[in-house]
Amino acid sequence: MAFGFADARNRVWLDAMTIRLDYALAMDAGSGCGLTDALLDAEEAPFRAGLARVRAAVDEGKLGFWDLPRDAATRDAVVEWAKGVDPAITDVLVLGIGGSSLGGRAVYEALGGPPELRAMQGEARRIHFPDNSDPWRLAHLLEALDPKKTLAIAISKSGGTAETAASLLVVREWLKKAEAPMAKHLVLVTDPKSGSLRKLAGEEGLTAFAIPPNVGGRFSVLTPVGLVPAALAGFDVEGLLAGADAMRTRCGAEQLRQNPAGLLAALHVLHHRLFGRHLHVLMPYADGLRGVAAWFVQLWAESLGKKRARDGRVIETGPTPIPAVGATDQHAQVQLFMEGPRDKLVSFVAVDAVERDLTIPKEEGPNAYLGGHGLAELLDAERRGTGLALAEDGRPSLTIRLPKLDAPSLGGLLFLWEAATALAGELYDIDAFDQPGVELGKRLAYGLLGREGFEAEAKRVRDAEGAAPEKYRL
Ligand code: PA5
Repeated sequence: MAFGFADARNRVWLDAMTIRLDYALAMDAGSGCGLTDALLDAEEAPFRAGLARVRAAVDEGKLGFWDLPRDAATRDAVVEWAKGVDPAITDVLVLGIGGSSLGGRAVYEALGGPPELRAMQGEARRIHFPDNSDPWRLAHLLEALDPKKTLAIAISKSGGTAETAASLLVVREWLKKAEAPMAKHLVLVTDPKSGSLRKLAGEEGLTAFAIPPNVGGRFSVLTPVGLVPAALAGFDVEGLLAGADAMRTRCGAEQLRQNPAGLLAALHVLHHRLFGRHLHVLMPYADGLRGVAAWFVQLWAESLGKKRARDGRVIETGPTPIPAVGATDQHAQVQLFMEGPRDKLVSFVAVDAVERDLTIPKEEGPNAYLGGHGLAELLDAERRGTGLALAEDGRPSLTIRLPKLDAPSLGGLLFLWEAATALAGELYDIDAFDQPGVELGKRLAYGLLGREGFEAEAKRVRDAEGAAPEKYRL
C-alpha cells in the first residue's frame, strides 16, 4: 500500500488562504488506519443533526461562545479601556484558574513572543498567569513586583472559586499595604449580575467586565477573560476576533467535508469509537503554541469526559487529551506514539511562515546536510517525517496549518477547537458544557477548610483518611 498520498478531497481550505486542515493521514488511504471514506461519510447525518442542535442552542441564547467573534461592543469597550490604563503599569497579574486563566495565557504565550525576551525588554508590559493557588509562584511574584506598577485582574465567572478567591484576598492585602488605590490596581472579570466579585465591584467602585452567562469558562477565551489581558499586552484584539469570525463562518458549513470543526470532531470521535483511539494528542510544531496545547487539554477533557449520556444512561466516556510540542516531544513522547499502544490520534499544528528564521551555517562534517536550511524548515521536515513515520505503521495523524502565528490565525485556531468540542459533544451524545465531576472534590476541600455547611464533608475526609490501613503507609 502507498502511504501518505495527498488526496485533494482530504485537504480542506478552512478560510481562503488561511487555516488548512490536512487529514489524509487520518484516513485509511493515507495511513492504513482503518478509517475509510465510507465510514467518515456515514457520520454525515449525525454531524448534521449535531450541528443543527448547536445552532438551535445558539439561536435560543443558550450557547454564547459561537457568536463571541461578532461582539464588537465588548471588543471596543475592552480596547478603549486598555488604552486608558496608566502606561506606568508594567506588570499585570491575572488571578484565575481553569477556563478563567488558560485561554488568556494561551493567547499571551502565542502572541507575546518568548517569555525570556519579554523579561529582557523592559518596556513591554508583562502579563503573569500564576493560575494555581500554589504559593511557589505567587509568593515570588509578590516579592518581585512593585504594587504601584502592577494591575491585578481577578477573573472568576462564578466568583466563588476557592483558589481565585484566596489569591485575590492575598493580592488585595498586598495592594492595600502598599497604599495602591484599588480602583487603579484591581479590575474584575465576572458574571454581569451575580457572585461575590460583582458585589465587590459595586461596593468598591471597581472596573468590572462581564462574562456572558451563556458562555462557560473553558469557552470564554474570546470574552474579556482573554481579551482584557490581550488588550493590556497590546495585541491585535480586532485581528484575533476577525480570525475567529472567519472560522465561525466555516464552522457553520452544513456538509461535513466542508466543515473544519465537524471534521475534527468526527475524526476524533470515529477513531475513538471504532478503533479505540481514545488518546488525542495536540502537537504544535511551534513553541508559541504550548499554551494552546494546555488550553486544549482542559477544553477537551472537561467538555468530553462524562459519566452520562444526555438521556441519563451511564456511559463513562471521553477521550484523554495529551499536550505535546514538536520537535521537543520527538525526543520524549514520540517513541510511545510510534511503538506503544495503538490508541492515539495525533493532531499536528504547523506554522507556514515564521516571523523570524535563522539560516543554519554550512560546515563540513557530519552535519553538512543541515547547512543552508532554515531552522523553521528543519522543524517542518521533522513534523512531516513524524507524520509519515506514524502513517507507515498504521498510526493516524492530521495537520492543522496556520499561515503564520498571528492574531487572526490564533483566533481561528481557538474557535476551531471550541466548535469541534461542541460538535464532538454532539457525536458522543453528552453535554459538553457541564462539569459535574469536579464538584465533590471541591466540597470535600471546603469541609477541610472549615467552610460553614460543609462539616459532614470534613468528617468524611478525616474518617476515610483515618481508616486507611497502616500497612499501606511506608
Ligand atoms: O471551564 C470551566 O467552567 C471551569 O474550568 C472554570 O473555568 C473554572 O473552574 C474556574 O471557574 P470560575 O471562572 O467560576 O472561577
